Amino acid sequence: LARGELTADLTGRHVVVSAGGTREPLDPVRYLGNLSSGKQGYALAVTAAARGARVTLLSANATLPDPAGVDVVHVSTALELREAALKAVADADAVVMAAAVADFRPAEYATGKIKKKDGVEPAPVALVRNPDILAELSAHRARSGQLVVGFAAETDDVLANGRAKLARKGCDLLVVNEVGGGKAFGRDTNSAVLLSADGAEAEIADGPKESLADAVWDAVVARFDKRV
Ligand code: CTP
Ligand code: CA
Repeated sequence: LARGELTADLTGRHVVVSAGGTREPLDPVRYLGNLSSGKQGYALAVTAAARGARVTLLSANATLPDPAGVDVVHVSTALELREAALKAVADADAVVMAAAVADFRPAEYATGKIKKKDGVEPAPVALVRNPDILAELSAHRARSGQLVVGFAAETDDVLANGRAKLARKGCDLLVVNEVGGGKAFGRDTNSAVLLSADGAEAEIADGPKESLADAVWDAVVARFDKRV
């Protein structure tokens, strides 16, 4: 589907999109975070709304204005994102996990600011695993026929890593971005490969994040049409 073409092919659908990156607090002023800007997730929300969907955007620390006509739920940590996602997907037709979710969080939160001391080495930061939200949403579909889409940022053998990840997560579609060397994070354009659980594979040419978003919704709509 070309950009700019008027289409309301998501009318009557509820879609949930996560965006941004989670922050895992160490103390009241510090956190473990990542470089996700939220631009791709926001583009997914805006394009879905333009195509007629009711959109719930789960925004993790993105510093972007709330898009008009979109229900925005602001979260910060992976645990908060999981809670918000489980709630939002209850009646959703599709969910797209574009957020960068921290794999680990500090095992302990210091309620007071951590202080340095002269002559004392810093204590190592112990981490624990965060729940895998995408895998959980894929394994326990809130609704039959609900489509689950993941994103993966990969380096090295991008496609092989992507295929393995799609299988591991159990989602229907995986958008695989190549990162490193200034690619993807914080940029306005994005190229990707769209991998499907049914074996299909499609290149999405480098272009604005809105074009990639529209390509994702095209693939989602095509699968809705197959099912009903
Ligand atoms: N994801 C998630 N919950 C997590 C980690 C990731 O829902 N705890 C989702 C992301 O939103 C994304 C997809 O899983 O849609 C892939 O994230 P990625 O970090 O590439 O996957 P991981 O399984 O964490 O693999 P890696 O070890 O390569 O980071
Ligand atoms: Ca990860």
